[in-house]
Amino acid sequence: MVTAFAPGKCILFGEHAVVYGQPAVAVSIDAGVEVTIRESNSWILEGMPFEPSRHPHISHIINDIFDYTGKPLKIDIKSGLFSAAGLGSSAALSNSMGAALHQLVNPDEPLDLISLARIGHSAEANAQKGRASPTDTATSALGGCVVVSGERVKGTQHVFDATLETPEGSRSWSICRASLPQVDDTWIVLGFTGIGSPTGRMVAGVAELIEREPQKMDDIRAIGEITSSGLDSLSEGDMESVGFAMNSCHEKLRNIGVSCPEIESLISAVENHSLGTKLTGAGGGGCMVSLTRHPRRVAECIEIAGGKPLVSKLGSGGARIL
Ligand code: PMV
Repeated sequence: MVTAFAPGKCILFGEHAVVYGQPAVAVSIDAGVEVTIRESNSWILEGMPFEPSRHPHISHIINDIFDYTGKPLKIDIKSGLFSAAGLGSSAALSNSMGAALHQLVNPDEPLDLISLARIGHSAEANAQKGRASPTDTATSALGGCVVVSGERVKGTQHVFDATLETPEGSRSWSICRASLPQVDDTWIVLGFTGIGSPTGRMVAGVAELIEREPQKMDDIRAIGEITSSGLDSLSEGDMESVGFAMNSCHEKLRNIGVSCPEIESLISAVENHSLGTKLTGAGGGGCMVSLTRHPRRVAECIEIAGGKPLVSKLGSGGARIL
């Protein structure tokens, strides 16, 4: 029997602008997905017969990546993430499954996190018709703070490059690590609106807006600048300035039409107790994030305002065998 864990992620800066080549900064969070696999007489997922077509991430990893021909497996999944909330739950599932199967097939080979990030990205791309940025899978595999961008970002440590053939042509990204400060008095609190985040629709909506109003590209460029200054503040451990940059980033995200009343209501509920607040991920639902020194109070305010809170340190560890 093997159990593996891979964390979810929170985008601190740069969502949507990353689609236009600007950098995005994400951190892994404490919660994630645990996968346990054990050999069995038949293929079972969560107590039911395994139907590969209904679980493209898992079947891609088993068949295409590992070319697994061993005994049937009983697969159990425990998730601590809200799904379709922009927290990277499908990336965490792919990475966790990849890590567990690696350990079962090659018990003497240590888990290589870059290979795992590539496996996860391949599973995401396979399940999303060739369109998947490596942000979620890289952050979940490597842990800590990850910067994804079209070009290598100054002040970060380059880890690997990813390329993908998409229906729109070949895309490539540089994946770097950024150092996180040793702060033990600041947390992030995610607030789920309860509404699934429609990533594809939101990305398409921004593209249409820019076509209609080309000056909106100024907001995209501004997000890129805010992301760079937010990243500098983060590596200096200046959490007040990180919060300030998060607020500015949210203003620009609002300008490009990706916030929604439910996100705004959770943000209003917590902003007095936060260093900074913004939507995180695609918007239009999904989650907001608060950077705070009062995580319990912020979590309570989110609950009172009708959201579901999740408290985390910034950038806990990456994928691992348990
Ligand atoms: O909601 P998520 O975590 O899938 O974030 C989407 C981030 C976007 O920038 C909106 C899209 C992308 O592919 O980077």
